[in-house]
Amino acid sequence: MVKFEYSSVLLVGGGAMAIRQHLPRLLGLLGSRSVDIYEADPARRALLAAQFRRERRVRLLEHIDSKDQFDLVVIATPPRFHYDYYRQLEGQAERFLIEKPMTVNAGQAAQLADYARSKGKKVFVNLLRRGLGSYRLLRTLYQQQEFGRLERVQLCEGGVFSWEAASLGPFSKDLSGGGVLMDIGPHALDLLLQLFDELTLQAAFMDSAGTAVEANCTLDLAADGGVPVTVSLSRNRCLSNTTLLQFERATCSAGVRDNAIAVKAHGTTEYVMYPAAGPGSAAAPGFAALLDAFYEQFLMQGQNRGVGPAESQRIMQIIDQAYATGQPMQRVF
Ligand SMILES: NC(=O)c1ccc[n+]([C@@H]2O[C@H](COP(=O)([O-])OP(=O)(O)OC[C@H]3O[C@@H](n4cnc5c(N)ncnc54)[C@H](O)[C@@H]3O)[C@@H](O)[C@H]2O)c1
Repeated sequence: MVKFEYSSVLLVGGGAMAIRQHLPRLLGLLGSRSVDIYEADPARRALLAAQFRRERRVRLLEHIDSKDQFDLVVIATPPRFHYDYYRQLEGQAERFLIEKPMTVNAGQAAQLADYARSKGKKVFVNLLRRGLGSYRLLRTLYQQQEFGRLERVQLCEGGVFSWEAASLGPFSKDLSGGGVLMDIGPHALDLLLQLFDELTLQAAFMDSAGTAVEANCTLDLAADGGVPVTVSLSRNRCLSNTTLLQFERATCSAGVRDNAIAVKAHGTTEYVMYPAAGPGSAAAPGFAALLDAFYEQFLMQGQNRGVGPAESQRIMQIIDQAYATGQPMQRVF
């Protein structure tokens, strides 16, 4: 049930995420009666106008009228523009859904968080992996030392880039602030921030140079004061797409996008476990189900605990530091 009214929505940016993912959910799950889309590229705007000519609830705008009010503003442009659009449109809605990464750096994230707090605006950031119950379960097992002390963690996420973006955003430092770290880094770091209270960067390694964005990135981190954590991200290699937690008495391997946790108890048994039934417990939810759950759990309930600006600020602090201190990856022979 939608607890909050999202009758009129402004969608800023008419690319892959906006049109394929958000628009059907705005019209379907939220039951929006009008969705105005502002897309900056005239050719793309004309294409979308033709595509939606029979959909009376959808309108393509040539400019955003500052007098218009909306129940929700969705910002799904390349990341560079998120902050400026939030500031521009702050007075035109009470609720904002901003795509990840919320901003291109931690300074903007802190400012956006402050503005939202002082103006009483509710900002939701699309950190859709908050819908995975497995990481809440792993946090409990870690805190209760169910398998003994946690010795180390390794998160590997990667595949060959195949997202059908409408712009060159994902490959532009100017539009996105970076490559794989800006793209899947927020999701990966968000999983770790669900497990740990503290996460500090020790070292970063990237394969980018000059104006090129990185396709590969490795982060060495320390969690909760001492647990060593390694994060490997790739856009051109298929990695395991799991988070491996090595405890004293067992090794747990959790999917980065699903709820299965494979447990190898040292010297004895092997089994797979799932979070108990309830929200976030679907075995292999997939992207569409995770996004549905994000809408249901946060937007429709009007609450942004775990997906507000504060979480994005923490993520961006680590990412900023990684770009500032990142070293080139060394070739092997
Ligand atoms: N949450 C997720 O899992 C997820 C997945 C993919 C992308 N994203 C995020 O969604 C956002 C958009 O990504 P995408 O894949 O849809 O990119 P895209 O390139 O497909 O779409 C971006 C659109 O914005 C338009 N645009 C560019 N500048 C604009 C401006 N100043 N004003 C209005 N429109 C403008 C472009 O013309 C394009 O149509 C990014 O922040 C990206 O990180 C999130």
